Amino acid sequence: MKYLVTSALPYANGPLHLGHVLEIIQTDVWVRHKNLSKDEALYFCASDTHGTPIMLKAKEMNITPESLIKDMHKKHHETFTSFNVNLTNFHSTHSEENKKLTSEIFKKALEKEYIHKKKISQLYDEKEQIFLADRFVKGTCPACGAEEQYGDACEKCGATYDALELKNPVSVLSNTLPTVKDSDHYFFKLNKLHDYLKMNIQNISNQTPIKAKLDEWLNDNLRDWDVSRDEPYFGFHIPGETSKYIYVWMDAPVGYLASIQNWANHNDINYENLINDEDVKLVHFIGKDIVYFHLLFWPAMLKTYGIKNLDEVFVHGFLTIEGKKMAKSKGNFILADKALTLADPDYYRYYLCSKLNTDISDIDFSINDFIQKVNSDLIGKFINIGSRTQNFLVKLNSSKVAPGNISKSLEFKKNYEEIITLIDKKEYSKALKNIMIIADRINAYVSSEVPWNKAKNDEENECIAICSEALNVFKDLTILLQSFIPSIADKIFSLLNVSDLNYDDLSIDNLNEVKKFEPFITRLEKNDFDGILD
Ligand code: MSP
Ligand code: ZN
Repeated sequence: MKYLVTSALPYANGPLHLGHVLEIIQTDVWVRHKNLSKDEALYFCASDTHGTPIMLKAKEMNITPESLIKDMHKKHHETFTSFNVNLTNFHSTHSEENKKLTSEIFKKALEKEYIHKKKISQLYDEKEQIFLADRFVKGTCPACGAEEQYGDACEKCGATYDALELKNPVSVLSNTLPTVKDSDHYFFKLNKLHDYLKMNIQNISNQTPIKAKLDEWLNDNLRDWDVSRDEPYFGFHIPGETSKYIYVWMDAPVGYLASIQNWANHNDINYENLINDEDVKLVHFIGKDIVYFHLLFWPAMLKTYGIKNLDEVFVHGFLTIEGKKMAKSKGNFILADKALTLADPDYYRYYLCSKLNTDISDIDFSINDFIQKVNSDLIGKFINIGSRTQNFLVKLNSSKVAPGNISKSLEFKKNYEEIITLIDKKEYSKALKNIMIIADRINAYVSSEVPWNKAKNDEENECIAICSEALNVFKDLTILLQSFIPSIADKIFSLLNVSDLNYDDLSIDNLNEVKKFEPFITRLEKNDFDGILD
């Protein structure tokens, strides 16, 4: 089976933060894991470049949106790479491929009458000459009277409403009183595909809370979706219009396909065949805030266009910091690049994955817990296996692992299979816990066999056998951990003098001459993290 895997396209209006990193690591681990098995996986992403916030951000910086998104594309790509994320292609929604695909989808939808035009009234900022999106207007909640609420929902009482219902509305952009202005908009009649969606999207998610959400939505009529925006806007024109644009959320998921197509074209692969192949699966990793877009709008668009439906959407919860919502305004925010200056990227990968599972509850980043997990699990348990055994072989056996000492490794074979299944199900936390249990067991074995005493007491062959047993398990665990901590794993493989190992190399006597074990990673200290919060 071949998997085309994506993570959500990050908005190109600011640098990545640790929440984004959580998602791209979760995705990268799964892709790497698939490539260690009989399957093949490719990882596609892109910058999400359109919409009002990007346009306004560029204006504020006195640069063009094109220049802003170009700069962010480069920065984001560098951040992905620094976190050892192995992308197949990192493209952009502001691309020829995306423009063509999006306008084809739009035209098909018009043709099939899934999209229709209707006149609506909206708040308008006369000073800035722009229609006000819900997030750009504040006022008094029509339900409970709370002040300073946005145009879509009240944070105090939870009421949702139309921006026109807000009392005393004020434009966030100019601080002026908005007027009400009419304009023609294009709407996607999602409900026309209600039966199709009900029949075809239940299997896209295996996650109980997501299934429940879908049931709830699909038990009702689905509301029309406004897929157009008036100028000024940064995006693609609606086919045949000069002052109206396609809403960013319509061209954004198409960006997944654009990224795949761009890569296919550069690699002489037929994109149409690839995307419609029954043995090729399209899998999206996303956060819980964008489920509606991926499980309803996106399958509806694919259906309209006549592309095979996507196969899986996997949803994660939100990263919090020290138990609190990540918020720049509250000084509780960690930028991805800042984090990289404080600790090894694989440490973050290990730690975040040690908390990831298949439910969609939030994942907490806590500095003390981070330090503890890295120092005690990764270094104290896992690396410890090699650091306490390998050099006996260097000294006593001309660096050779003695053949035939594979009984411990074979004893754990069933556990290895369970771990692989857990990774496959994206139960990373459980998988890593099980790996550390094996590390504990092999460390206990080494402690009880006391190879250092044997070396002293003229029982060198026993010492060599024990250390070889341990090192074979160390190699196995490194194979299992390599999707999580690829760069640390590479260093270990290099010390063990092996390369390109995959799941087939588990419980196999495939070590020969090893190198001298040198400590190559450092423990974390509390004061490493002074000033981590932005
Ligand atoms: N541009 C859209 C996605 C379009 S996909 C066709 C978007 N961008 S985003 O930059 O806001 O978020 C990108 C991804 O990061 C989303 O899946 C989002 O859920 C995730 N996260 C953003 N903040 C997050 C946390 N604090 N924690 C975990 N994931 C977070 O949405
Ligand atoms: Zn309210």
